[in-house]
Formats: sequence, structure tokens, C-alpha cells
Amino acid sequence: MTAPIIPVPAGLQVHASAAPFVLSVSSRILATDAAASVAGYLAGILRPSTGYPLPMVSPVDGNVAGPSDIALHLDLADSLELGDEGYRLDTSEAGATITAAGPAGLFYGVQSLRQLFPPSLEKRSVQSAPWQAVAATITDRPRFAWRGAMLDVARHFFDVAAVTRFVDEIVLFKLNVLHLHLTDDQGWRISIPGRPELTGIGASTAVGGGPGGFYTEEDYARIVAYAAERFVTVVPEIDVPGHTNAALSAYPEINADRRARDPYTGIDVGFSSLDVHADATWQFLDDVFRSVAAQTPGPYLHIGGDESLSTPPEQFPGFISRATALVAAHGKTPIAWHEAGRSGDLVPGTIGQYWGYLTPQDHADELATSFVEQGGSLILSPADVAYLDITYDETTPIGQAWAGGPTSVRAAYEWEPAEILPHVREEQILGVEAPLWTETVASAADIDYLVFPRLAAVAEIAWSARAGTAGRDWEDFADRLEAWYPRFLALGIGAYREGEPYPSRASGLSDGTL
Ligand code: ACM
Repeated sequence: MTAPIIPVPAGLQVHASAAPFVLSVSSRILATDAAASVAGYLAGILRPSTGYPLPMVSPVDGNVAGPSDIALHLDLADSLELGDEGYRLDTSEAGATITAAGPAGLFYGVQSLRQLFPPSLEKRSVQSAPWQAVAATITDRPRFAWRGAMLDVARHFFDVAAVTRFVDEIVLFKLNVLHLHLTDDQGWRISIPGRPELTGIGASTAVGGGPGGFYTEEDYARIVAYAAERFVTVVPEIDVPGHTNAALSAYPEINADRRARDPYTGIDVGFSSLDVHADATWQFLDDVFRSVAAQTPGPYLHIGGDESLSTPPEQFPGFISRATALVAAHGKTPIAWHEAGRSGDLVPGTIGQYWGYLTPQDHADELATSFVEQGGSLILSPADVAYLDITYDETTPIGQAWAGGPTSVRAAYEWEPAEILPHVREEQILGVEAPLWTETVASAADIDYLVFPRLAAVAEIAWSARAGTAGRDWEDFADRLEAWYPRFLALGIGAYREGEPYPSRASGLSDGTL
């Protein structure tokens, strides 16, 4: 395989008989100021393994790209063909050029370019391979605007280093959303000024009784900034009115009986609820949404709304309506899991996140469709194929087998977003997201093993053309994935591989700790 790029590009021509692009000690990266941050990111990838200096120079200063140079070229005239995120990549003996209408497109061109080099490029110490990239012409742009991964930092807490590592991993596959599930029964993980017990008490533990943890405002800002530099929008989720035991342990007045709950370290769901009528609850939500909105430069705030089995059913729709209005009042677009479609009075533009099955059950399709009937759009996370906490097969030592699992890599790949909800049109689908729930996930090695390669499969569904004529295809994906394993190894990503034991030898993280 000459260009095993994941996700498969919209247009790819490999000129196998032509001479390749070759990086050398005299290679430079040409970029104007507007492209300088992507150039710096590219240099950061290339320098450690090549050992080359790779100076960044500007064409504005009269520098002309030579045969061993990489040129990053911004050209607004390309926006019609390439959109905000598309790119064109040319590699040949005459040089390497990435052209895009904006920096995000250049960034995705960089992700494709790195995959044209030998996997050892990804090592962080000097390697001796010849640094050749096959001669190719790629013209590429994504199918969906929303290409997400979700990390549950509530059931187990993951610190800033683990989260930024995760960001570096997901951008390899051109994902652009990191949904952080910040609160649940087992932990509250974000600091809210004026509400010290949320982190004082609410963050004090985790599933299994571990020490828990939380992000200070500075920590959270570091995650958001790190993601933004990589064109990833962080979407914070404050899950209400259920999944709230951690908050209920911190503030008695938001409980129906005004008694604080004990911290919870088990893995049951559906037993907790805010008192949705109490003034104290709305004061609490106002404080929380105001602060989370202020800490979040991105446009979205996710309010959960799933599995609120202990909220009186007749009170749930009204709660959701009011909560979406409160989020909008704080300047953000609300997102909620599909159960929130029970409200017929969502604030305009509210986005739904579908987590039912490929074959919807329990009216999940109707609840999801309610969002588009009210003028909103949908993110698709079908649990029986896109949930990353599910075991791969009967022998997988971590993960859970709920939600239609086990879920093989092939199952994670072979589904079509436009065929799940019959009354939803393609343009009403914002995109696709794969969540990792972390009841059984306690380390970076655990994350890697459950997330990869299934997230690569879901990323291809989000980015690439649908199956058919020139689109994606399982056999072709399986071949490219096979070629990817040495790259996972070089990157230090401990991906699952069928037939290999856990912890994967690829991980380099065998002690089960971060
Ligand atoms: C969910 O899995 N409860 C969204």
C-alpha cells in the first residue's frame, strides 16, 4: 500500500512510478504569518525523528520553495472547492505543497502528509530512515462538520497531560471536537468559582474509590488552548438533571429532601436527580452554566439530559426547556442527549445527540427527530457501533459489554449515518461522535486500547465519502489499518489488535497507570 491514509481522502492519486518527495537536512518549511502556527506544529512532528533543523521561512521574504521544501500555502480562492477544512496536497521530486483556504485545511493536509512518510517519522528520537513520501496528489474535504470524540472524566479522572495526549491522538484522524463529560454521579471535575464544595466534596472520589480530581480554571484553560491550537473545539458537558450525585453530595439544597448524598463510587445509573422545582437548583444551574460558558470559548454547552430515571417524568420536559433557555441566556448553543427531545419547547437551535442503536428502540428515533422538528440538528453516536467503552469480543479484559456489544472494529466501521433516522435529512446531521465512558478505564493505556483503532473507523465515517462508488470500503480500510499498526507503535499508542493480548506491546504503558 503506497498511501494508507485514514480517513480515506475524497480524491487521491498516487504517482507510483514517479520519484518521491524526499526530506533532507536542508529542507525548510515555507509559510506566511497566517500559516506560521501550523508550520510550527509540522516542524514539531518532523524534527525529533529526522534530526533536521527544518527552519520556518516566509515566502514574503523572497524565499522560493525548492525540491526538498514543504510549502504551506493559504489561498482564499480555494474556499469554494475545499471549504474551510479541505486541502490539496502535492508531493513530488519538485517538493511538497499543502494548499488550503484556511489554517484548519493546512492542518488536515499536515495530517495526511505525515502518513505518507515511513512510520518511524513518528518516533521522538533521531531515526535513520530515508524520509521519502510517495508522489501523490490529494484533494480532500470532510463530509461532516462535527467529527467528535467524547472522554468521560467523571467516572475516572484524567489529568491535563492525559487529555492533551488524547487531543494529539484524535487529531491524527482529523477529528475536530473533544466532548468532555465533566460531571456525573461519581465526580464533579471542573472548578466553579463561588461553588467550592463541587470540587471540595464532589470531586473527591471516582469509580472504585480512587482519589478523583478536578480541573482548576487554569487547567481547563490549558486544555481548551491546547485543543484550539489543533483546531479542536472543547464541548463541556454538565449532565443534569440525572447523573448528579456528585453535585447532590456537595450542596444539600438541590436535593428534593435537602439532605446531602454520600459520595458514590459504584457504576449504577439512574438513581440521582436534582430537585427540578427548587429555586436553589436554578440558582445553582445559573452559577454553573455562567461559569462554564465563561471558561468555554467554543459555542456549545452540553446539558446531558440522559437516563434521568429518578426525575418525575412529568417534570422532565419543563426542566429541559428551562435549562436550554438558561444555556442560551449565557450565550451558548445547548446540546443534549436524545431523551431531551421529550421537550417540545427547546430553545431554537438546540442540538440533539442520538445514542440509540442503529435500529432505534424505545422511541429513541422519535426523540432524536424532535430536535430537527424544532429546527435543531443532530450528532450521531449510535451506541451499538460508536461507543468506545464496549468490549471488542468475549476476551477483552477491560470495557463493558452493554449497548449491543461486543463491538468489533468492523462493526465500528460498517455503518452509515444517513440510514439510522428515516425522517432526518443528511443536512440535518451535524456529524458523528464516538464516546468513551470510563467506568472500567483508569489509565492512558486503557484509553488507547479501547479507543484505537475503533475511533479511526468512526473518524473515517465522519470525514470520508459514504460507501459506494469512490467512498469508503471495509476491505480497503482493513488494509490501511494493517499498514497503520507500525505507526501506532511509533506514536506510542497502545491500540488493540485482534489476537494480541492486553496491554498491547505497542503501548509502552504496561503498568496500568498514567
Ligand atoms: C448515555 O450513554 N447515557 C448517553
